[in-house]
Amino acid sequence: MAEVKFFGGADMPLEMHKVRIIQKLNLPPIDKRLKAITEAGNNTFLLKNRDVFLDMLTDSGTNAMSDRQLAAMMTADDSYAGSETFYRLEAKIQEIFGTKYFLPAHQGRACENILSHAFITKPDMIVPMNYHFTTAKAHISRFGAEVVEIIIDEGLKAQSDNLFKGDLDVDKLRELIKTRKDDIAFVRVEAGTNLIGGQPISMANLKEVSAVCRESDVVFVLDASLLADNLYFIITREEAYRNVPVIDIMREIGSLTDIMYFSARKLGCARGGGMCLHRKDLLERIQDLVPLFEGFLTYGGMSVREMEAITVGLDETLDFDMLSQAPQFINHMVNELSALGIPVVTPAGGLGCHLNALEFLSHVPQTSYPAGALASAIYIISGIRGMERGTLSEQRNPDGTEPLAHMELVRLALPRRVFTLSQVKFALDRINWLYQNRDLVGGLVFVEEPKILRFFNGKLAPDSDWQTKLVEKFKKDFGDSL
Ligand code: F0G
Repeated sequence: MAEVKFFGGADMPLEMHKVRIIQKLNLPPIDKRLKAITEAGNNTFLLKNRDVFLDMLTDSGTNAMSDRQLAAMMTADDSYAGSETFYRLEAKIQEIFGTKYFLPAHQGRACENILSHAFITKPDMIVPMNYHFTTAKAHISRFGAEVVEIIIDEGLKAQSDNLFKGDLDVDKLRELIKTRKDDIAFVRVEAGTNLIGGQPISMANLKEVSAVCRESDVVFVLDASLLADNLYFIITREEAYRNVPVIDIMREIGSLTDIMYFSARKLGCARGGGMCLHRKDLLERIQDLVPLFEGFLTYGGMSVREMEAITVGLDETLDFDMLSQAPQFINHMVNELSALGIPVVTPAGGLGCHLNALEFLSHVPQTSYPAGALASAIYIISGIRGMERGTLSEQRNPDGTEPLAHMELVRLALPRRVFTLSQVKFALDRINWLYQNRDLVGGLVFVEEPKILRFFNGKLAPDSDWQTKLVEKFKKDFGDSL
């Protein structure tokens, strides 16, 4: 991989694209921001985008699209059944993953619903996985099965030098197969493990998991939603894949899995999803659920225009410049914050820069939701919207007790090709200020707590007047600056 070196020696990412369509941004003054987050119940999901300066909530459906994607959308073939658009998407998936069948769905969680429905067939089943994602766990538990996380121990350490913290502990998988094989609905591996800082899984591990599942006849499902970043890490961190073309890696991954599902809000940089597979017996188990929940088999709830954009977006995933942009920006953020002594998840992962709220706000107990409080504080002092990925993102146990998350993270997502480096520098500056003033930040308490996926809609309040004090200090230091 050729790289651009700077004469002055700067270690800096360089955009290999130019901006051709822009959206004007708004940075409201701090009093307005305090009012907005209060009205949003200190939940960044409930902020109105008009009150947000840099939307680092997620990359889901918010990656910048290319000129080629937009052009392809105009060629969409509008028909309920048998649309040419579907066959173009299906052919692209066959080309890059080498899988035979493609079942469309309106987004990633729709696939999780269908897979849970099809494979959780009796009480007390389990789904072993490297790590859960919120929607995957919610669907699996809805059907009465239990998520069993068997990530390597290093995966749960916020700071580490292990390059593949998303790897699954294969010995634990073997043990589960030995003791509970008949209870295993399927094994789920998540590429680019979302909730523990976008950490990748290695090809070596994928191969081992695949072999163990195959020899025991257990269905192996890959959640490929965050595969693009994971591919970048395989190429840059796994010696054996350094010079292997992206398409060859994707095809190999396709051949290792029984079912691969993805959110095309992430992989493919548009909005949609689907499941790719080879085996006819598995196809028959899930196919009929697509028209039932999603829509006919040639659109599955997606708009044909989005499907055209996904086809091109998947094709662009083969371009290393496209794969690199977000991980390089994230790496830059992680390096700069680490140099300032600010606790972040290391090594830098995909999806976003993840602040370690347990250390950042070490004085806030986990039961007072430090990651939620930090996300709220970041918005107040910068207009930047991040996402809590900690205890708030967990669901209560059936007996009502609250499990504390393994990690308390604030994710500052970097949707692909959306932000410029000066915007990233603004984020770094404000986070640094907040870190210097972290003692001012307190905790949160629930005011309204939904039963399912509470982080989406729940409302919280500060546990003291800390937000007012934070605003006062900001004004003292920044005067009337936004
Ligand atoms: N799997 C993973 C690993 C994800 O990150 C997501 C979504 C899904 C499944 C569900 O896909 O949103 O299309 O239904 N993650 C988003 C995020 C929501 O912000 O990280 P979906």
